[in-house]
Amino acid sequence: PTRLLAVDPNNPEAGLVQAAAEVLREGGLVAFPTETVYGLGANALDSRAVKEIFTAKGRPADNPLIVHISKPEAIANYIKVIPPVTKQLAERFWPGPLTLVLKGANSFPREVTGGLATVAFRVPAHPVALALIEAAGVPVAAPSANASGRPSPTTARHVIEDLSGRIDLVLDAGPAGVGVESTVLDLTGGLPVILRPGGVTLRELEEVLGPVAIDPAVHGGRVEKPRSPGMKYMHYAPRAPLLLFEGANMKDLAGCILAEAERLKARGLRVGILTYEDTARIYAGRGYDIVLAGSSSNPGTVAAALYDSLRRFDRLGVDRILAQGIAREGVGLAVMNRLIRAAGGKVVTV
Ligand code: TXA
Ligand code: MG
Repeated sequence: PTRLLAVDPNNPEAGLVQAAAEVLREGGLVAFPTETVYGLGANALDSRAVKEIFTAKGRPADNPLIVHISKPEAIANYIKVIPPVTKQLAERFWPGPLTLVLKGANSFPREVTGGLATVAFRVPAHPVALALIEAAGVPVAAPSANASGRPSPTTARHVIEDLSGRIDLVLDAGPAGVGVESTVLDLTGGLPVILRPGGVTLRELEEVLGPVAIDPAVHGGRVEKPRSPGMKYMHYAPRAPLLLFEGANMKDLAGCILAEAERLKARGLRVGILTYEDTARIYAGRGYDIVLAGSSSNPGTVAAALYDSLRRFDRLGVDRILAQGIAREGVGLAVMNRLIRAAGGKVVTV
């Protein structure tokens, strides 16, 4: 059975942290809060423990994991040649929602790197995560703590929904703040490349780095062999099929969504609509299941609410989901990347 322990998000109880660290050292799996989403942690140096992560999640073996460390200096224990920008990025963004992909994976079992010659590091900005990594005394490999393909967990309840009975322990410290995962930045080539948009925005990165490229997979372009293996899988998906609508003109956008909703309703289907506090009334009073994910004018609020909103459609039991897109700006780029993938690439441009 999976143990669930409530822990103080700001001042985690030392005894609880020690107990969780002990589970990690013994090769077990611990779900823990980070500032982005809940992670499913194992000792990154223990190949057997890391394999268990893949089993528990049903995750494809070629999708590598992020190694979580408690301070940037720890990278030097595992990598010989560290690109100089690493230090600048660490100073500006760590602890925080940025993951750096670096060359040199020999220190870790191949389960961590998916057999790639690179490894991804991140220092999470959450007191519980940092205390746990410190206490464990080992680097912690951790994907998001959801069943593979499902929306990432932003609460301990989401973790239990997906993984109860499959992992040893969940540390419950309340909802994760950012709500979408870290930005994955590849530093192994000439120009830094965003492989996955996340909590740190393109603009923030460019303030430190100058020009930064965006991998074509980010915008949903079909890529045969993406540089971030995770990008090729259908992801973040609620149970009902989701169709994403995108367009700058709100009236046209809502018109299209309502027309499709009417068609589906006429076929006897139960329709869910994902929209926002500032646009909700357009869809009200027509018998649809409306779920609000923050305010469309403030992408940070959408990110924070996104995954719980997608899971809410499962609880409502809708047959189809129509999702209203937001601008691909700031954290909105990460939100749209997740919605595109929840839609399996099916985007209606209005
Ligand atoms: O915010 C986050 O990053 C959360 C929390 C728990 O830290 N973790 C997370 O892990 O989202 P996961 O496994 O769900 O997503 C990791 C992403 C995947 O798309 C994976 O393919 C990519 O990072 N990745 C990991 N190592 C990589 C590498 N060496 N090269 C390219 N992409 C890599
Ligand atoms: Mg994930």
